[in-house]
Parts: sequence; C-alpha cells; structure tokens
Amino acid sequence: MATRARVWFNRHAPHSLLFGQQKQSTLSAVEHAATKPSRMTLATSCLKLLAAVAAVLVALAATNWPMLVRKKDLWMPTRITRNLDKCSVLDTSLFGCEDIVVHGDYAYLACGDPVARDGWYPPALKFNKTTDTTMKDALYAYHVETKTMTRLAIHGYSGDMTLHGLNVFMHPITDASVTPTLSVFVVNHKRTGSCVDIYDHVVGSTDLHFVESVCDPLIRTPNAVAPISRKAFYVSNYLSGPEAEPKTIVLDMMLARRTSDIVFHGDDGTTRIVRQGLRGANGLAVSDDGMMLYMAESMSGEIHAYLRNPDHSLDLAAPPLWLSFFPDNLRLVPDGLAVAGPGAFVADGSGVPTVVAAIAQGKAREMYVDADGILMHGASVAAVHWPSRTVLVGGPVMKGVVACPWIEEGAEVGGETAGEAKEEL
Ligand SMILES: *[C@@H]1O[C@H](CO)[C@@H](O)[C@H](O)[C@H]1NC(C)=O
Repeated sequence: MATRARVWFNRHAPHSLLFGQQKQSTLSAVEHAATKPSRMTLATSCLKLLAAVAAVLVALAATNWPMLVRKKDLWMPTRITRNLDKCSVLDTSLFGCEDIVVHGDYAYLACGDPVARDGWYPPALKFNKTTDTTMKDALYAYHVETKTMTRLAIHGYSGDMTLHGLNVFMHPITDASVTPTLSVFVVNHKRTGSCVDIYDHVVGSTDLHFVESVCDPLIRTPNAVAPISRKAFYVSNYLSGPEAEPKTIVLDMMLARRTSDIVFHGDDGTTRIVRQGLRGANGLAVSDDGMMLYMAESMSGEIHAYLRNPDHSLDLAAPPLWLSFFPDNLRLVPDGLAVAGPGAFVADGSGVPTVVAAIAQGKAREMYVDADGILMHGASVAAVHWPSRTVLVGGPVMKGVVACPWIEEGAEVGGETAGEAKEEL
C-alpha cells in the first residue's frame, strides 16, 4: 500500500507542474497589467492562494489514495457470482438464522420468527415493540451426519426471544462416562433491553436449561458473543445505543463512525470495555488455545487479531486484514477462519449480495459469491463442519439455511486473493 501510494504520487503528481504553470501565467499577468499595480497584486495573491489550495488537495488525495480506492471497492463493488451452483438449501423451513456454530457432530443455530423479525429487530432498525406479544425466535441443533434438524426446547425461561449472536463453551470433562455438556450463549434483544442469555445443554439432547441472563449498561447493542468459560465472555457492541435513533445508526454505518466497542464480562460478574472506538465490531472468535480473539469490523471491512492478556484486555497482534466486503460473523477452521457478510448493501432487485471467504495466513480467499443475493440473502455466517467439509450459511433475514462444500485453496477456478494485510502508510 505504501509503495502504491508513492508510485501514484510520483507518476501522476501533477501539482508541482500545475503550480509552475500558474506561477508562469501569474508573471505574464504582471507584465500585461503593469499599468494597474493594485489589481495586479490582488490577482497575484488570488492565484497564489488557489495554487496553494490545489496543491494541498492533490497532496491530500495522493496520501489518502489507497484509502479512497478501498472505500470505493467496499461500497461500490462489482460482484461476479462464484461457485454458487455447488450449494443447496439445507432447510427451507428455517428463517433468519443470523448465527450458527459447529461443535463436535452438531451445528447449533439461532433462527428467527419472520413475523416478529419484520417488526422488532433492533440490529436491522426494526423498532416496533407492539408487533407481537411474544418474540418466538428459536434455537436448533443440526446433526450433520444424519442431517437431522431439531428445535431445542427451552426450560426455565419464557420471555422475549429475539436472537442474534450465538456461541458455545464446552464444560471441562471430569468424568469420561458422562455426556459432554455445553453452555450455550445467545444474544437476546428483548424489548426491555438486550442481554446475553446462557443455557446448559447436554450434547445430543433436545433441551436447553436456562442458567442466567447477563444484562448490563455496557452491553448496549450486542451482536456476537465469544465465551471463555461457563460464565465469562466477550461481546461486541455493534453500533450507537442502546436506544439510538434509526438515523443515528444509519450514520454510524454510512460514515463508519467509531461508536462501537468490545466488552468483557468476567467470572466475577463484572463488565468492562476492553476495546473501543471501533467501526461496527461484529463477529468474534476465540482461538482454540485461548490466546487470540478475532474480530470482524463490519463497517471498515477489516478483520482484527487481538492477543488476549491475562487480565482479558486485548492488544492488536497484527496489522488488520482488509476484505472486499462487510464481514459479519467469524468461525474457526483448522487453519484459520471462515467469514460471511454482505458484498454490498443493495443490489438490483431485492437481493443483498453475499461473500463467503476463508482466511488463512493473513490472506482472504473468496470461496462463494452470490452477486444477486437471492440464495444467500445478506448472509451473516459461514459455520464449518470440518470432518465433512460442510459450510452452513445463514443470515438475519435469509430464507432457509444453505449448505455448500468447503473449497480447498487452489481448487477454485480463477481464484484470486480477496484481501491483503494493510501496511502502515
Ligand atoms: C406495529 O405492529 C402492529 C402489530 O402488528 C401494527 O398494528 C402497527 O401498525 C405497527 N406499527 C408500525 C409503526 O409499523
């Protein structure tokens, strides 16, 4: 990037030339208007000022050129559908599965109720609290091998269920003869406020047992959750809030305002901000060894890799990775991450274009592109069952869940790099 900026500056830098020409014409103006010295001085000053302003503008454009090009790529992309014929709709009855996480033989899905989602869904600027008397979103477990989808029964909670981010934490196994138990964490936008709800789930059962609802003024506009114990988790606050006007939120998004943060809720019940000034902090994933937290910053199109400190604070571990789309949820795969997100906010017709990418070794590879955004309508997640190389794609207002095969690096025709590490300018 730095070299590109310099190359652009040297090759095209017209400002010195322009400045010289203007100086010249100023001099000839001086000669011609020798009889009117006061007007001549004024004209000279004006031209000098204009030249200086032009020079500053050109210099600014030159130094910010990579950023300007990048903004254009992100906001006005040209998309070509790729590999979509390899995918099929897994379950047409589901709707709005914003988040999916694979653990062991199962995929867990947080899906929406279409009627309720159309009226009350704060992340999509739907704020009609009278839409429905009960918010009926639901959680599912999908057994990948037998292809069976089971709606999980909730025990111990009967309030609003307006689901968003989802994740699981496996309880430490102390007795190998006992069936593993998961803590299931889910972001719930209740009409009384958004919280992170925690359930216990015995793997293979059809039940979720309510443990607690973590609500805190610092959990403002929660989006994704990444647990590190049965109680402790990181959660991303996506935008201004908690009760921002729709226009405030639109401005957050359009201007990529730094109104977003990451919050940590500890085992001791305390909640604090661990990273702030972010531009739409969205997907989160903690590495298997617990050392790293990865974050998808939607509005800048960046993936951030943080080193986790013993006190759970976060240090940026590498330059952010730039993507050519708006990354949403992040899921781990053995050699990196899988990410899905809108390829643009609007397209011709009613679709929301989607990109599904694999990230490894500081590079992104676009495996799937739905340029029309019909099959993958504004997808937010690509969760991978690695043994079967199955990618499950869902989205907050997407019909059904789409299944696609994982595409190995080099296997795709005309594969190209979709992202690059940002250098300091
Ligand atoms: C909110 O939802 C209710 C019930 O569906 C409906 O009657 C009302 O018109 C909606 N209000 C708005 C502002 O859309």
